[in-house]
Amino acid sequence: MNTRLQGYQQRVDRALEQWLPAPEMAPERLHEAMRYAVLGPGKRVRPALCYATGETLGVDLAQVDGIACAIELIHAYSLVHDDLPAMDDDDLRRGLPTCHRAFDEATAILVGDALQALAFRILAHDPAIAASPATRLHMIDTLAVACGSRGMVGGQALDLAAEGRQLGPAELEFIHICKTGALIRAGMVMSSLSADSASPRQLEQLDHAAKSIGLAFQILDDVLDVEGDTDTLGKTGGKDADRRKPTYPAVLGLAEARRLATTLHEEAVTALAPFGDRAAPLHELCDFLMARNK
Ligand code: IPE
Ligand code: IPE
Ligand code: MG
Ligand code: MG
Ligand code: MG
Repeated sequence: MNTRLQGYQQRVDRALEQWLPAPEMAPERLHEAMRYAVLGPGKRVRPALCYATGETLGVDLAQVDGIACAIELIHAYSLVHDDLPAMDDDDLRRGLPTCHRAFDEATAILVGDALQALAFRILAHDPAIAASPATRLHMIDTLAVACGSRGMVGGQALDLAAEGRQLGPAELEFIHICKTGALIRAGMVMSSLSADSASPRQLEQLDHAAKSIGLAFQILDDVLDVEGDTDTLGKTGGKDADRRKPTYPAVLGLAEARRLATTLHEEAVTALAPFGDRAAPLHELCDFLMARNK
């Protein structure tokens, strides 16, 4: 794994460790489960994209820590709920038993709820986010929209409703943009909002890149569900076909799905062109994401 990504991972893990309630504090079992769900060996892709966006715009990374934590907490909550029997019903996540398997279903539901609340608390409270009150509110609003019924949660609802149904490419794109793209995009947008000097045009270019990166990410997740093995993925492979999920490989075929991810990557590269070498951290991350096997 590349050293820049490792640096970002260590950075966000330190910050998450500080924000998560201590396991000795009551309610101990809930806090233990929250830490289990968040601190497990995930890739920390969303925080990394937040940091790389900050670096592209010359933002002090201490200002990005809270944003990176907030986005990863929402992501971890989404995974805990996604794995529940009422949703994808998965037993394995990040190479470990899923939260409801390691604890129990009620705890897993509450873990998600508490992680979501903690994410918003960090955005509202973190003194290192040196934004004006108006900008901070803009960030909170951005995250709220991205994880609500027109973002991640809405995408999850559509994903479940589409099981076993034949979808067209437009419907499928909408689901993927909502369930996964919205959060990735929100992290990058919130990071770019912390750059005082960013012009509206630059914010627009970054937003465009973020949108492409977010959709490409879920397309490759679908591809890896078909191509990957359970040991490498750290989650059970082949589940999408079992559940007759709406996926890109199912609608377009594997080769076409990969081609679309490559096209989206190229679109991101084009959108980042005006930043020149300053966008190197983002380019490096995107290359890693395109080549990933888990
Ligand atoms: C998996 O996300 C779920 C999707 C939204 C595609 P990641 O592949 O980022 O999962 P972790 O955080 O590395 O476990
Ligand atoms: C998850 O999509 C999207 C979320 C909002 C969690 P998937 O259901 O494909 O994610 P995995 O494959 O279980 O990680
Ligand atoms: Mg799912
Ligand atoms: Mg799933
Ligand atoms: Mg998947």
